Amino acid sequence: MKKSQVSMEPLLRAVNLTKRFGGLVAVENVSFDVRPGEVIGLVGDNGAGKSTFIKMISGVYQPDDGEIYFDGKKVSFIDPRDARDLGIETIYQDLALAENLDVGSNIFLGREMKKRFISEKLSRIIISSAFALPLAALLAWLGLQFYKIPGLVLGLLFGLASGFVLGWLFGSVTQIVDRKTMMGESTKALKRLDIEIPSLTQQVRNLSGGQRQSVAIARSIYWNAKVMIMDEPTAALGVSEQRKVLSLVRTLADHGVPVIIISHNMQDVFAVADRIVILRRGRKVGEEVSAETTPDKIVSLMVGAETVHKMGVIPQALESNGGVAGA
Ligand SMILES: Nc1ncnc2c1ncn2[C@@H]1O[C@H](COP(=O)(O)OP(=O)(O)O)[C@@H](O)[C@H]1O
Ligand SMILES: [Mg+2]
Repeated sequence: MKKSQVSMEPLLRAVNLTKRFGGLVAVENVSFDVRPGEVIGLVGDNGAGKSTFIKMISGVYQPDDGEIYFDGKKVSFIDPRDARDLGIETIYQDLALAENLDVGSNIFLGREMKKRFISEKLSRIIISSAFALPLAALLAWLGLQFYKIPGLVLGLLFGLASGFVLGWLFGSVTQIVDRKTMMGESTKALKRLDIEIPSLTQQVRNLSGGQRQSVAIARSIYWNAKVMIMDEPTAALGVSEQRKVLSLVRTLADHGVPVIIISHNMQDVFAVADRIVILRRGRKVGEEVSAETTPDKIVSLMVGAETVHKMGVIPQALESNGGVAGA
């Protein structure tokens, strides 16, 4: 399933990223490139720094050291929105879906499509008048009570002017959410990724774990994800659902969207990843082409050669690879 049409120009490039939390170095000098169309498995034991690393490239944390390049340009992210604006989309375990909304609404969550039933200009004119006329009448009446005719004139003018300004500012609100177009677009987005969901009008809470995952992925793709980052996407899924999500990951890559996938599951990693980056205690201790390595070797890099030796686990992996490779 893996293909070799991976282009050589990196889309995303992390160079010597370091993140410290107080005295603890969570990620130390980690670099790697992500090219269009490839899937990178990011692996490591608990606490190895995987989540911290992806949080730096998705704008959640600012690195203490190192640089990030996107499409050849150096970038820095103040918050996740900056990264998302460039098309770096992250799907966390909680998926950030709204349980009580349907599939279509979730794909457009926070970016709903609106349509107008009258033109914007007409809407502003109507709303301005609705503000200005009563305001002018009220102020004119008040002016007349206290300052006679000059008061009336001033009140009238001031009321009209401020009413029109307010009305103009708020006058474009006559829009309604365009559910029909949103549903149509959602159907297309899911279809493009070969995702089958029985009914788009179902609330997300009624979907299976894999289907939710698919909705989250479809949403990112619809909004032009250029790099997809997934933190343990299959952790909470049943076997057949895991397979679906993994095949979706491949579909994304085949559409040219590279995926960085964090997983504990060696089978998953080997099933989808073109390359595997191994972190251990915040450092990159290996980067392997999946077709040219073995799960044993990856595990020995993850836990460190000494540990494997001490525990007597998979000694053959060590013999054949000669211990820990440099980063
Ligand atoms: N916000 C934080 N504040 C302090 N320490 C943190 C924070 N986030 C992570 N760490 C620490 O950084 C190290 C790496 O954590 P993490 O990136 O979550 O590892 P992983 O995702 O590989 O399990 C761990 O020792 C963890 O306790
Ligand atoms: Mg983590």
